[in-house]
Amino acid sequence: MQPVRKAVFPVAGLGTRFLPATKAVPKEVLPLVDKPLIQYAIDEARAAGITDFIFVTAKGKSALEDYFDSSPELIRSLKAKGKTDLLKAIEPSNMASGSISYIRQQEALGLGHAVWCARHLVGDEPFAVILPDDVIAAETPVLRQMVDAYSETSGNMVAAMQTVPSQISNYGVIDVAEDHGRLVKMAGMVEKPPADEAPSNLAVIGRYILSPQVMRNLSAMKPGAGGEIQLTDAIAAEIASGANVYGLRFDGERYDCGSKAGYLQAIVAFALARPDLAGEFRDFITTTLAEAETGAKAAE
Ligand code: UTP
Repeated sequence: MQPVRKAVFPVAGLGTRFLPATKAVPKEVLPLVDKPLIQYAIDEARAAGITDFIFVTAKGKSALEDYFDSSPELIRSLKAKGKTDLLKAIEPSNMASGSISYIRQQEALGLGHAVWCARHLVGDEPFAVILPDDVIAAETPVLRQMVDAYSETSGNMVAAMQTVPSQISNYGVIDVAEDHGRLVKMAGMVEKPPADEAPSNLAVIGRYILSPQVMRNLSAMKPGAGGEIQLTDAIAAEIASGANVYGLRFDGERYDCGSKAGYLQAIVAFALARPDLAGEFRDFITTTLAEAETGAKAAE
């Protein structure tokens, strides 16, 4: 079995839910406490053994490319001031020469199209796809969990998350063929179905391990749900052709940082998990909530 060495990061979306900020700042460099979203994705990929990082970018994303450049002046200045903790903090943003590549998606034609734009860089081998908007706090990083499971199953794998019926129509949804607990074998996959037509309550979130055949399927895809070329449809075609596709019920807490509510929840959770901030931040939240409650009672 070929190892999963390459990861595609589709970051060419317009990020309209974060306008006006995303007029000037790519969503992927928005910080969770002090680390941009993209850094969490890179850390997770590294922990899974990924060595080739492929970004599908677009106009207006140059801040993201700059983030991964080396900054000799900053390093010199931090060294001169003896700021070893800060030097350590910027270390993970240093990428080995030749390990990172960028390809443009000229038009935002959908996630499937963005992935397909990376086809020549991926070549004929299995690859991971990571959506940096989905940040997952997990003891074992989720892509690592998937690569480990994939080494037993081969085929294709997606990250699966139990979802309430009222939310299910926001996701690609798994049609379950066989439920083995942590792993499910998939009979199909539907993009954003109406709640009463969803084949299960298992939603697919932004982590995938895909075979090169899925990339070939994308070449033949026509626009699907929302007029976009859907990755879901290329995976569904793979299942229909008889290939094995599995969903992994991962261990971890996922935050949808592509939405304002999910992003704010992630900030609170990540700040509370930081020993240097947790005490002060918890006090602030407790006081603020108590004041808000008193204010609400007074207004009744
Ligand atoms: P989203 O559905 O969150 O879209 O894309 P978006 O444009 O980023 O954000 P909104 O909805 O306008 O606020 C999910 C992922 O797919 C990428 C996005 O960059 C994000 O990582 N994507 C989406 C592309 O790379 N190209 C596309 O054409 C669409």
